[in-house]
Amino acid sequence: MPFSAQALLRPHIDALQPYTPIQPFDVLSKRLGLPADQIVKLDANENPYGPLPAVAQALAEHPWYHIYPDPQHEALRDALAGFAGVPAANILPTHGADEMLDLLCRLFLTNGDRVINCPPTFGMYSFDAELVGAVAHDIPRKAQFATDVSAIEQAVNDDSASACKMVFVTSPNNPTGNWLPDDELKSILQLPVLVVLDEAYVEFADKPSRANWVSRHENLVVLRTFSKAAGIAGLRLGYGICPDWLMQVLWKFKQPYNVNVAASVAGIASLKHASQIRSVVKLLVDERGRLFDALQNVPYLNPYPSEANFILCDVTASIGAHGVKLALEKQGILVRYYNKPGLADCIRISVGRPEQTDRLLQALHALEI
Ligand SMILES: Cc1ncc(COP(=O)(O)O)c(C=O)c1O
Repeated sequence: MPFSAQALLRPHIDALQPYTPIQPFDVLSKRLGLPADQIVKLDANENPYGPLPAVAQALAEHPWYHIYPDPQHEALRDALAGFAGVPAANILPTHGADEMLDLLCRLFLTNGDRVINCPPTFGMYSFDAELVGAVAHDIPRKAQFATDVSAIEQAVNDDSASACKMVFVTSPNNPTGNWLPDDELKSILQLPVLVVLDEAYVEFADKPSRANWVSRHENLVVLRTFSKAAGIAGLRLGYGICPDWLMQVLWKFKQPYNVNVAASVAGIASLKHASQIRSVVKLLVDERGRLFDALQNVPYLNPYPSEANFILCDVTASIGAHGVKLALEKQGILVRYYNKPGLADCIRISVGRPEQTDRLLQALHALEI
């Protein structure tokens, strides 16, 4: 047999399903044949207000792009400590919250290990676990998308299965928008696993972050991001809030320059003006309320209440959720569509600016269903 480099790949790689990413403006603009400024992009829970003006200024003025970043991210961690209300020593900035998920999976999981995933939820948990050869053990959500805590307890304690090492929980959850109550999180934290609480959307909820629980629970990691409330998804900046013992390991394990200088400059400038981030969040939360009320008046949509910057809707139209998505897309309005177990015939709409809501509503009402 001739030598094949491909045959050297790890055996589980063949079976991996690729992650389906969202397309950015330039790609969409080409595909839809529309100028970017005519596209209403409500498909990826991005913040339509974008970076604060101070961020653009700080990026323009920064003098040292030719110098490597600080591997310890000291200035950013100090700023984050004030914002998140936890010690800088427990914060690790990352290339988006996604990098933290990847780091955790590579640190803890090996072939055949199980992680608990609670679909419908963010697809990266099972994706990253499967990348390293672990198995995502799905515990589907109950009515109204509540987390099934007793089924999680049973699955973790199932001695007949392979080791269960991590539970991924999300609050507010994507794409359902619901909150994980304190008592349920406390029960999950009693289990002998690492609990990864993803708070990517917490700024939009009317309840407090659980970041400061990390000091009381040595098996809790909380993930946060600048992609949503702070409006810099394209710069890729997130952070994990981790117990002391895990920070020691992460300092050894992460790439030294995992956060680039532009992301760090933008993060620090955003946090200097945190009150402006809160004002933008308030605009989006108010608009979420208006959008929710208006969606209730669209005869073929049933919106679910949301604590995040998006609203999930059941679609009862004869053309189905996919048909609605395609009809909107023809008009340059992008929403996310789902049709899978636990999420049959649904669309998820990110909260936009008021004028974007208006265009969406006009298009929804004009659809011939
Ligand atoms: C629940 C959840 N966690 C994490 C992320 C990714 O965050 P980041 O952009 O910081 O990688 C997303 C992005 O949509 C998300 O929905």
